[in-house]
Amino acid sequence: MSTVIKGARPYGEGDPVDVLVEDGVITAIGAVQVPEDAEVIEAGGQVLLPGFVDLHTHLREPGREDTETIDTGSAAAALGGYTAVFAMANTDPVADNAVIVEHVWRRGQEVGLVDVHPVGAVTVGLKGEKLAELGTMANSQARVKVFSDDGLCVADPLLMRRALEYSTALDVVIAQHAEEPRLTVGAQAHEGERAARLGYTGWPAAAEESIVARDCLLALHANARLHVCHVSTSGTADVLRWAKDRGTKVSAEVTPHHLLLTDERLATYDPVNKVNPPLRTESDAEKLRAALADGTIDCVATDHAPHAVQDKDTEWTAARPGMLGLQTALSIVAETMVRTGLLDWRGVARVMSERPAEIGNLADQGRPIAVGEPANLALVDPDAEWTVRGAELASIAANTPYEGMRLPGVVTATLLRGRVTARDGKIC
Ligand code: DOR
Ligand code: ZN
Ligand code: ZN
Repeated sequence: MSTVIKGARPYGEGDPVDVLVEDGVITAIGAVQVPEDAEVIEAGGQVLLPGFVDLHTHLREPGREDTETIDTGSAAAALGGYTAVFAMANTDPVADNAVIVEHVWRRGQEVGLVDVHPVGAVTVGLKGEKLAELGTMANSQARVKVFSDDGLCVADPLLMRRALEYSTALDVVIAQHAEEPRLTVGAQAHEGERAARLGYTGWPAAAEESIVARDCLLALHANARLHVCHVSTSGTADVLRWAKDRGTKVSAEVTPHHLLLTDERLATYDPVNKVNPPLRTESDAEKLRAALADGTIDCVATDHAPHAVQDKDTEWTAARPGMLGLQTALSIVAETMVRTGLLDWRGVARVMSERPAEIGNLADQGRPIAVGEPANLALVDPDAEWTVRGAELASIAANTPYEGMRLPGVVTATLLRGRVTARDGKIC
């Protein structure tokens, strides 16, 4: 089985080339003789990138299959240019044991559109009381490489310290949802003028920054790897800079929505804009973009969080936090980072594929576009635009904050180990 991508520009650089893919591997790049039985993708000079890797996805299976399943979430991912996603552990039941993580892994392989790597919970039931059996999950067939209580913070410093210490022996990473719970009781929106005017209890920047500072110190002393989920404040970027300068093994992600959207959206009263951590100020968003460009923040992760209408379309305070992200991530990065000149396409490959693959310890993802490498690829039309319609996205839920927006950058094809998983907006 072979595929030829004709006339693509790897990393958006140089003259268009043909890329021959055979048996899941890139076997030739240049002017390629097209084999007779080959599937041909006419790229017309579009940008060819390594397939994207999402370190932070909520797929809701098991437990809330009315909002997303591994099947529909995989479809959304493939359409968004992803070849691997990490599925967060806050399902029902929680992914805190080998049975659940193996189910998620196997179901992802059956669906076959992206590799679905289950994230294991750090604590039993996400309760923050007792460490889960990290070793059993790491050594299971799911080969869990990332552990997180995301949705909740591992707030107890002793538990976090133990988790970090334990992680070094397993060569896994602890991903923290940084939110000091005592500082965010009842919090509804970024603590600032806009929340105050609407009477919403504030979510202070210090609730994030204090946990990130604490965890960086714990990781440094334990010589462990820490990953900071969804950095949302400029102060967190400063803490990360400080910690990295001192040799802390810390990595960090930023979501597309924190790069683009701000708490100005509060004025709409529309809970589609409610997310945890909350949308911050224009100045935060600007500094997050700069921190992503200079490597202080390593990568983009979606925090794709599907929610049912009855859980989301309510008054602000009752609505669940979270928004869809898999199918819009590339476009938001194109809008905020490429159009602004902060990143070129090679930089996009770094923040959406190479760094997340390294952090998640995936050997076959985020690889160079070169002969002999696995054909995990995303083809992007940088000049095309599209209009976001929640109802048309592959997710079961439709809670996109970009409804009706016209965005640049269209993913025209995705290949997973040489198999075309999505093409021209359709699952293959
Ligand atoms: O907005 C969020 N939604 N933040 C989280 O931490 C959890 C997530 C979810 O599971 O819906
Ligand atoms: Zn989170
Ligand atoms: Zn999350």
